[in-house]
Amino acid sequence: MKKRLEASFLAPLRNPELRQLYGKSLRGGLLLYGPPGCGKTYLARAVAGELGAAFLHVSLADVLDMYIGQSERNVAELFRQARDSAPCVLFLDELDAIGQKRSLTRNSGMRTTVNQLLTELDGIGSDNDGVFVLAATNHPWDVDPALRRPGRLDRTLLVLPPDRTAREAILRSHFAKRPVERIDLAGLAKRTDGLSGADLAHLVDSAAEIALMESVRTGSARMITMADVQTALRDVRPSIGPWIETARNVALYANESGEYDELAKFIRKHGRR
Ligand SMILES: Nc1ncnc2c1ncn2[C@@H]1O[C@H](COP(=O)(O)OP(=O)(O)O)[C@@H](O)[C@H]1O
Ligand SMILES: [Mg+2]
Repeated sequence: MKKRLEASFLAPLRNPELRQLYGKSLRGGLLLYGPPGCGKTYLARAVAGELGAAFLHVSLADVLDMYIGQSERNVAELFRQARDSAPCVLFLDELDAIGQKRSLTRNSGMRTTVNQLLTELDGIGSDNDGVFVLAATNHPWDVDPALRRPGRLDRTLLVLPPDRTAREAILRSHFAKRPVERIDLAGLAKRTDGLSGADLAHLVDSAAEIALMESVRTGSARMITMADVQTALRDVRPSIGPWIETARNVALYANESGEYDELAKFIRKHGRR
């Protein structure tokens, strides 16, 4: 996934001369999608560090305002700010908060906000050069199709649950600043198939909590042990289950155009486990 992010987003961004040579414009943005807690927001933050460009992170839920007209003004202001800080990556997190299919948004205030966003993405009457849009959602199928037309958020990247190697690395990073004794990271990674990054973070938190509570009780601090992790593991359920169910339906019944081929492949593999 890092490789694909590099190819479709970072490399063209870093090489303006090559862009010019191949006549590739940087219009349009990249939409990260996938199950909750698997690192979309985390990844976007990492992109900021990677680029050395200014980075503007907004959750779209925060842009929406109950007062008629205010949400559009917020969106316009956001893009103005992004253009002022160019070169700049504008990260629109939780895109589904606004980009809901227009047929779903009965509230007409919401519709004008979507239109404002479309206008800004098209750069009508303004210059979007040097503003790169990255967006994220758990539910791309609820995102207004108009937002995903060419020149807008036209590229997608599926962010999947961590594989074994990634799980081991995530566990290691979450244990790194804690007092631990003989934790079998490789073994744990093997037994946590299906857990998201957020689930793994929660697992480590719960194990730490068990050790903490006992230390409070006995009055002397002790290490976090493998037994604590095993106890914690009994209560951790994969949180992506409901998402998988929805995604399965989309992959089966709403993939005529092939836009969810990557998702369908993941779902088939997931089903075989
Ligand atoms: N690649 C990763 N490395 C370390 N921690 C991760 C990683 N992916 C997810 N996490 C953990 O899961 C949490 C949720 O990830 P997040 O990016 O918010 O998920 P999403 O935006 O896809 O719902 C993070 O705060 C972090 O604790
Ligand atoms: Mg997120």
